Order: sequence, then C-alpha cells, then structure tokens
Amino acid sequence: MTISGKARLAGVMGWPIGHSRSPRLHGYWLEQYGIDGAYVPLAVPPDRIEQAMRALPALGFRGCNVTVPHKEAAYRTVDRLDATAKRMGAVNTIVVGEDGSLEGRNTDGFGFIENLRSGAPGWSAADGPALVIGAGGAARAVVASLLDEGAPRVWLVNRTRARADELAADIGGAIETADWVSRETLLEGAVLVVNTTTQGMAGQPPLELDLRALPGWAVVTDIVYTPLMTPLLAAAQARGNRVVDGVGMLLHQARPGFAAWFGREPEVTEGLKAAVLQG
Ligand code: ATR
Repeated sequence: MTISGKARLAGVMGWPIGHSRSPRLHGYWLEQYGIDGAYVPLAVPPDRIEQAMRALPALGFRGCNVTVPHKEAAYRTVDRLDATAKRMGAVNTIVVGEDGSLEGRNTDGFGFIENLRSGAPGWSAADGPALVIGAGGAARAVVASLLDEGAPRVWLVNRTRARADELAADIGGAIETADWVSRETLLEGAVLVVNTTTQGMAGQPPLELDLRALPGWAVVTDIVYTPLMTPLLAAAQARGNRVVDGVGMLLHQARPGFAAWFGREPEVTEGLKAAVLQG
C-alpha cells in the first residue's frame, strides 16, 4: 500500500518492539478502510522515552501506542490523563491534541471487557464474583474494569500474595485477596475466571488450577494468546464452560486509538484476528 505526503501517522513505542503485533493490526485496518495513513514500530530505549514522546507533535504524529516497558513512563510524561489511565497509573495510548499537547489514555480494560462481551454473548460482570489470578500490570486493568462494569466482588490471588494486596489497596473497592493455595476453593461461586499470569504461554508450564469446583455457567478467559487455546482454556472447554481466548483483548484495546488517530471506528473481525495471529 502506498501513502501520500498527507498520510496520517501513528505507531507503537516499546523496547524491544520487534515482537509487537500492533503494526500488523493497525496496518490491516488502514488497508481495509483505504486510509491514507501509516502505523509504524518505534524502538525507543528507556532513557529516550520522554524525548521520543515529546517529539510526536514535532513530527506531525497523531499519537501512538505505548507498550512494555514504557507504560509507566508515559503516565509520568503526558500533559493530561483520562480517568482510566489515572486509575491504572499507566498509559497505553497517546493522542496528540491540536495544540501539540499529549493526552494519555488506557484502553487495556476496555479491550478486556469488549473481548468478553463479544466472545461470551450475554455475559455481564454484574452476574457475580470473578476470580482473577495474577497481580502484574495486566491484572490491574482486568480488576479495575471488572469493578467498573459492576462485578460485585473480585477475588484476587497471586503466587506472591503481597503483590495482590498492593494492587487491591491501589485500586480499592470490592477486591478480596487470598493465598495462592486457596485459589481452587474460590472457584466455587465464581462466574468468571481470568488468568493474567504468564503460565500457559508457549514455553511455560500450564497454570496449575483444578477446575473441579467451578460452576458450569462460568466463563473462563486467559490473557495469554500464544497459544490461543491455553491448557487452562482447553480444560475449561472440555468440562463444558464457555471460554474466551486472549487475542481479542489486544484487538479491542486498539480500537479507541485507531479511531482517534485515523478518524474511523474500526471493527474486530475474524479476518483481522487471522492477520494478527499470522507468523
Ligand atoms: P506484567 O508484565 O503483567 O506487569 P509480570 O510481573 O510479568 O506482570 O507478572 C506476571 C504474573 O505471572 C505475576 O502475577 C506472577 O506472579 P508473581 O507476582 O508471584 O511473580 C505470575 N507468575 C509468573 N510465574 C508464575 C508461576 N510459576 N506460578 C504462578 N504465577 C506466576
């Protein structure tokens, strides 16, 4: 696809960035909608992240995504934060204003919820308690968005309990933490189980979680998407639970940025999913 001198520009800043699927994701939409624009990988080392973000308006960029390890630095650098980014303490989307100012947003929770909505029609966070496993950066977005969507309670368990306690204190609200050993007991009564740990990822051992106590109507989701069908999801599906794979979170979190930079609300389709998972 060729672009003109008037092309709209955006990209993704990370370090390293070679593994990012975002250029392919946004590139698919740009081509699909025939938009004169480009979305490029931006390999920015940590000691130059502030300089790189400040250069966005000078270069005429409409904004960018921010990924590991820059999400917290972006939070500290931008001129304005939306309410969600403020709550997360992290920014994954920057929008350059008409005046050259940088607005920081966080769309990870939006992506997580939209993925569940489309993958498990009829599911609602308000239906009952959720069990969230893991307490890293991704867990923060998951827990906060579940509470915002009306989850009556979120059980949070992490191998290192102190990290779960810290996350619960930061986010506030109806979060209860528990010891790692009690995770299987907490399945009873859960309407949603979320793995936010790295367990189950290709090259990692599966998450150790016996699903015996999980009600049949509960939905199980994983933020790991390599492989798409993690051992956890396979086990849940085998016993009849609805499962939602993790790549949709990546696809849906990209929607608000694309709309802001390129002026069109994009759609998440099977074609997009296939393109992003390729290679
Ligand atoms: P992020 O990249 O999301 O910020 P991370 O620090 O990489 O987070 O977190 C990965 C998550 O996987 C953590 O919850 C981590 O648990 P700890 O806080 O105890 O480290 C979890 N995790 C990693 N390896 C694990 C294992 N072998 N068993 C259980 N949990 C594990």
